[in-house]
Amino acid sequence: MIRTIKRTPSKNYQILKYFIKIVNRPLFEVSTLIRPTLFENMLTRRPRRNRKSAIIRELAQENYIQKEQLIFPLFLIEGDSKRIEVSSMPNIYRYSLDFLLEEIAECVELGIQTFAPFPSVKEDLKDEYASESYNENSFYLEAIREIKRQFTDVCLVTDVAMDPYSSAGHDGLVENGKILNDETLEILGKMAVAQAEAGADIVAPSDMMDGRIGYIRSELDQAGFTDVSIMAYTAKYASAFYGPFRDALESAPKFGDKKTYQMNPANIREALIEAELDFQEGADFMMVKPALPYLDVIQTLKHNFNVPIAAYNVSGEYAMIKAAAQRRWIDGEKAMLETLMSIKRAGADVTLTYFAKEFAKLTQY
Ligand code: PBG
Repeated sequence: MIRTIKRTPSKNYQILKYFIKIVNRPLFEVSTLIRPTLFENMLTRRPRRNRKSAIIRELAQENYIQKEQLIFPLFLIEGDSKRIEVSSMPNIYRYSLDFLLEEIAECVELGIQTFAPFPSVKEDLKDEYASESYNENSFYLEAIREIKRQFTDVCLVTDVAMDPYSSAGHDGLVENGKILNDETLEILGKMAVAQAEAGADIVAPSDMMDGRIGYIRSELDQAGFTDVSIMAYTAKYASAFYGPFRDALESAPKFGDKKTYQMNPANIREALIEAELDFQEGADFMMVKPALPYLDVIQTLKHNFNVPIAAYNVSGEYAMIKAAAQRRWIDGEKAMLETLMSIKRAGADVTLTYFAKEFAKLTQY
């Protein structure tokens, strides 16, 4: 049935006149959603009012990026006075400890307080058991001790995974081309305890073996490190976006890929299984990695679990923005801010990002 709206006299008739043409049309052409606001009260809902000035936009702002919730990943190499740029990550360097300490000092000055150092291990120190990973005299563990000595207040998130130390370049122990799960846990446990002994505040297993959070929790507790936290790489996907990181650490797998342990990018319900396990096993933080292609996963974990959610804005995500900005195809600073905001808006409490220092510099006042 075709109905028409009755014309009602209005103070705003002058303006209303404009709509009369529409009013006289059959109703089904007018959206039922806008009809009442449009004709009875004019536009009562004008979302643009909340965007009319910078101050009002700020009043209405829903999310903020805070440098206190950014974690800056750092690449550490052996030796002295070394500062080598990662070719696929402009402005990101591999530092020897002396220069790394200077870099941390600069970042602390800018308000960055949490760091995630990763070791770039020489090929001759790698073996199939990643034994260098729990050698207490390794340059990585020495570095952790030294950083904590010089910067007692800084929070250190250490990487628990075999790949930087593994001759196979995998995150697990390899036997006949297969990645063994339970045997890997023992190595991860030793690594986590060694890092806790060196002063790690948070250990972050990035390997995706089953049961590692529970195993590491119990190893830490038995060694007396009940206060050391675990940030689980809960939903870590088999992603193309790790490329520049593997260049930086020379940690790419020597054969095959990581698809038998890292997740299938097509899956989100599986992320809930991983999260349920990590939560039950005692994870203090749960991470999604990479961030941008998996914002839906971040949001889903945030809605379902009441631990802080972290997101890893990975090397490839950084490289893309930098590469486009260098060619002046996009505004790098704005793209960085929008990217970090999107991760926050999706629900990440904490973001690991190579932009941390740049963000802190940009927002300094
Ligand atoms: C593996 C690990 C990876 C990253 C950190 N630890 C990925 C991988 O090689 O599988 C990637 C981080 C990044 O790309 O920024 N233990």
